[in-house]
Amino acid sequence: MQFNLEQGVTGDAYKLLTGLVAPRPIALVTSMNEDGSLNAAPFSAYNYLCTDPPIIGMGVTNRPQEHFVPKDTARNIRRTGEFVVNVVTEDLAQQMNICATDFPAGINELEMAGLTTAPSQLVKVPRIEQAHAALECREFTTMEIGRSRIILGRVVAIYIEDKYVDPSGPYVKAEELHAIGRMNGLGAYVKTRDAFISIPRISYAEWKNGKR
Ligand SMILES: Cc1cc2nc3c(=O)[nH]c(=O)nc-3n(C[C@H](O)[C@H](O)[C@H](O)COP(=O)(O)O)c2cc1C
Repeated sequence: MQFNLEQGVTGDAYKLLTGLVAPRPIALVTSMNEDGSLNAAPFSAYNYLCTDPPIIGMGVTNRPQEHFVPKDTARNIRRTGEFVVNVVTEDLAQQMNICATDFPAGINELEMAGLTTAPSQLVKVPRIEQAHAALECREFTTMEIGRSRIILGRVVAIYIEDKYVDPSGPYVKAEELHAIGRMNGLGAYVKTRDAFISIPRISYAEWKNGKR
């Protein structure tokens, strides 16, 4: 089938792209509301974009009701300039999903999910205590594009539970972290436990010597 997104039905792009740009890492973002209370929500339109400087990007679609208002996360980041990306692993999957629920104003998603917080190193927004890794970010810029916001965050500090760090790098023991990925917009996820394959890079010299 062919789809022309320039003439397509609204919503097709979401359904098709979320199924094809997959698996996607999930950022469970903590940010601070106007009254100082905490907000938490997952975003899978998310990735690191470069490391020098260390920048992550996140796409947040405005809510369709009430004339397309920005989601709380996007508004909070614009106002305070800070947020934390908590890495979503297998053991946090259900709690992450609870944080995506559209609770009425004043209800704290973290409490509903049974999650607690721990102080961050450099930003005021705390990380989620149960998350095994977290990226402390300062807003680099927010681009308002159509009915969405693309947020670029500069990663200013990183927390990783000691047992997931190989200090020789330092590398992340990714095979042990058990991060999960999102596969579409229909509630499909992928686990990474026992799913790793190793494909070492090939130098040109090795290639010339016949390595495949
Ligand atoms: C796994 C998962 C990934 C999501 N990814 C996105 C995303 O990339 N962009 C987006 O706008 N909403 C995404 N959502 C929906 C938001 O999490 C949801 O709208 C949330 O209520 C926003 O909360 P907030 O208003 O507190 O920011 C996702 C939901 C789930 C469950």
